[in-house]
Amino acid sequence: MRLDRFLSNLPQFNRQAVRHLLVSGQVAVDGEVMRDGLYEVTQFSRIEVDNQLLQAGKAARYFMLHKPIGVVSATAHEQHRTVLDLLDEPNTSDLHLAGRLDLNTSGLLLITNDGQWSRRLTEPRSRLGKVYRVQTEQPITAEYIDVFARGLYFAYENLTTLPAELIIESSHSALLTLHEGRYHQVKRMFGHFQNKVIGLHRLSMGAIQLDLELAPGQYRPLSAAEVSSCWG
Ligand code: URA
Repeated sequence: MRLDRFLSNLPQFNRQAVRHLLVSGQVAVDGEVMRDGLYEVTQFSRIEVDNQLLQAGKAARYFMLHKPIGVVSATAHEQHRTVLDLLDEPNTSDLHLAGRLDLNTSGLLLITNDGQWSRRLTEPRSRLGKVYRVQTEQPITAEYIDVFARGLYFAYENLTTLPAELIIESSHSALLTLHEGRYHQVKRMFGHFQNKVIGLHRLSMGAIQLDLELAPGQYRPLSAAEVSSCWG
């Protein structure tokens, strides 16, 4: 929300008072005087007027989890343990997932309480590259490379998938980079060749790589560099 809106929504200030407070340098955001009413503030911003605290600002939290197979990518589920059950953190109800993985997919899952950050990360136009290691029942042939690069038509959504890069590692294993996240996308792409995916593991999202020190089920906070890497 814009800073001037945030202030004029408070009962003690009308719009004229807000303009005056801003130009006279009486408003501070995160400890710095802020004169620009258009400045975007969030639930994480500390906002003061004349050194009086109006909003303390919540701490933004960002985690990477090595999602194990068999744990569901949801915040609540009736039958299965959820990824949030794996976090030993206060107020997990505040957290949400920045992108999901299927029940039988493992690998990098990002969890945060910062909705703006996760939206940026997952919105289609960000075209963030996500790298998966795929293991299949049948051999993977060179033909797949061209087909995936051209894009596949998904009738249900009536769309053609964005160009995806495939690197064949061995007869039954490949690295696939997607720039979008359609429902069961990897499985459906290999399904085009009647080739069943028997192992799927996400290695990275943008510049954020799954930490190899994390065993399945383990997690750690993201570094500041990892958090800011997806704004580039
Ligand atoms: N594609 C899939 O089919 N499953 C996932 O979990 C992720 C991408």
